Amino acid sequence: MLRKPLLLAARSATCRKIIERTPMTRAMVSRFVAGSTLDEALPAVEELARDRYATLDFLGEDTADLAQATATVTAYQDLLAALGEAGLGDRVEVSVKLSAVGQFLNQDGEKIALDNARRIAEAAKAVGTTVTLDMEDHTTVDSTLGILGELREDFPFVGAVLQAYLRRTVADCHDLSGAGSRVRLCKGAYDEPESVAFRDKHEVDKAYVRALSVLMAGEGYPMVASHDPRMVTIAGELAAANGRGADDYEYQMLYGIRDGEQVRLAAEGKRMRVYVPYGDEWYGYYMRRLAERPANMLFLARSLMTR
Ligand code: FDA
Repeated sequence: MLRKPLLLAARSATCRKIIERTPMTRAMVSRFVAGSTLDEALPAVEELARDRYATLDFLGEDTADLAQATATVTAYQDLLAALGEAGLGDRVEVSVKLSAVGQFLNQDGEKIALDNARRIAEAAKAVGTTVTLDMEDHTTVDSTLGILGELREDFPFVGAVLQAYLRRTVADCHDLSGAGSRVRLCKGAYDEPESVAFRDKHEVDKAYVRALSVLMAGEGYPMVASHDPRMVTIAGELAAANGRGADDYEYQMLYGIRDGEQVRLAAEGKRMRVYVPYGDEWYGYYMRRLAERPANMLFLARSLMTR
């Protein structure tokens, strides 16, 4: 019931102002966000990388300003250089939202996003790590997959997220299940219309299994991005049925969610990667995490009432 209003609020400038100014919010955000700066986030990643893998996301989305898009690229270049210096290139990669590097700019947005993503991929290549493109709302999927295709011609290690709730996704999984392809399959976090997406939870779960079956049967590298215990179990079964070893696919979860399960899977010898966001532009990311789990909302509601 709260999902839709929370996802609408995620895109409202007014709600953003109110929530960002709530004194308690910062403390609650820190559950999901590893810090404001790279210096704050790196120790968290180094700690995680002892038994897990990680992907770092410099927070930001829907950039309407060229200078901001350029600054985001610089932030990723600095981040990748720091990963190289810390010797983490083999365990930590980066995740990028194309809308943060210019995809929605009025003039030449797609071209700017492609050029900017190339610069990030170049920096990733220099330290021997990979890049994964996040997936945003359904209106961006064609553009993002188009940019992915162009990037992969020069940087075949670039992967992308697919969202199981979209009706098109099984077909996209077939297209992206070839050798060398890396697909992070998630359920999907945006408020999408019935015409393009399954909206019922059970339908989404069934769609996730269908999409994952295609990826596991393919020749690419599936990344199982879900905290759902059923999806985790089914992923293990599908991997075994398709003769995949522990290094032929991986599990992924978000920073601050089901940490005990992350540790358990890693201790079993599974590849477990944690998505670690950092930066000041946490609002949209945080609101989507609230929308996923109403219990998270109770903490925010209490703090808003005591303002
Ligand atoms: P589901 O929502 O059914 O949750 C299963 C269980 O996980 C819950 O019962 C609860 O225990 C726990 N849980 C889930 N969300 C929680 C939360 N916010 N707080 C506390 N507990 C929670 N989406 C997208 O549209 N584009 C993208 O690029 C990405 N990228 C991405 C990367 C990675 C690594 C992950 C794990 C997820 C994403 N997502 C995403 C988000 C994804 O689409 C989805 O919204 C969430 O992962 C929640 O779905 P689950 O599969 O976890 O199942």
